[in-house]
Amino acid sequence: MPIIACVTGANRGIGLALTRQLVRRGDRVIATARQPDRCDALAELLDSDRLHIVQLDLADPASLDAFPEKVARITDRLDLLINNAGVSGDSVPTGAPNTRWGELEPEGILSMMRINAVGPLLVTQGLVELLAKGDAPRVLCVSSQLGSLERKTAGGRYGYCMSKAALNMGLRAMAADVVERGITAVAVHPGWVITDMGGDDAELTPEQSAAGMLNIADGLSTDDAGRFLKWNGEAHPW
Ligand SMILES: NC(=O)c1ccc[n+]([C@@H]2O[C@H](COP(=O)([O-])OP(=O)(O)OC[C@H]3O[C@@H](n4cnc5c(N)ncnc54)[C@H](OP(=O)(O)O)[C@@H]3O)[C@@H](O)[C@H]2O)c1
Repeated sequence: MPIIACVTGANRGIGLALTRQLVRRGDRVIATARQPDRCDALAELLDSDRLHIVQLDLADPASLDAFPEKVARITDRLDLLINNAGVSGDSVPTGAPNTRWGELEPEGILSMMRINAVGPLLVTQGLVELLAKGDAPRVLCVSSQLGSLERKTAGGRYGYCMSKAALNMGLRAMAADVVERGITAVAVHPGWVITDMGGDDAELTPEQSAAGMLNIADGLSTDDAGRFLKWNGEAHPW
């Protein structure tokens, strides 16, 4: 039975691989991009009537506000939401430093928090009514091993690590709230993946990571609500 999914940050990297695999297996996908008219990599899927490209910029409150209504014009239910969009390094819109000790600036860290931690929560909050009407509705928040408190023993990467740890805490609270409506939300570390963010030396292709995460999504039940998983389905330390 085909599902209706929404993938944020779908124009490149892991989000693009997730979108390709969902469309190819027959699902409908609402794929988000900051600039829908500049999504060359999604273009090959555009002849599919199963793909809808919708504008979303997690750093722009007006874009976040408008998003649920845009999705509701396409579908009256959502079975799967993958909060994949994210930023790392000093590439936040403000350009303010957020990675190295001694150079930190508040706007750098806060901008990273807005996109990586607050954005996924607000997207989920905005789509919760559509999710509640979905078939075994699930939410995957793409987190990172760098958001794990237990694993953080080296310095640096303040903005990214703090934002993914905050996303994990937001996920814990949100999962408890939405499971009451039958929605299962989890955090997933996608692995170290060859993308613009992960670099060329990473261990997994986007296709391998996406396949693992879709396998997780397919197998989730409400008993899994609030878990932190690795791309291969193993539990991730908090
Ligand atoms: N790659 C890894 O090794 C790795 C490891 C752990 C976790 N992750 C997580 O996996 C997710 C995907 O990463 P990736 O490696 O595929 O990264 P990527 O290749 O850099 O792609 C990031 C995606 O997020 C979008 N995005 C960035 N800022 C946004 C904003 N303000 N609003 C909406 N969309 C925005 C980008 O859109 P534009 O093209 O418009 O910039 C792009 O589609 C991220 O959450 C990342 O933190 C990745």
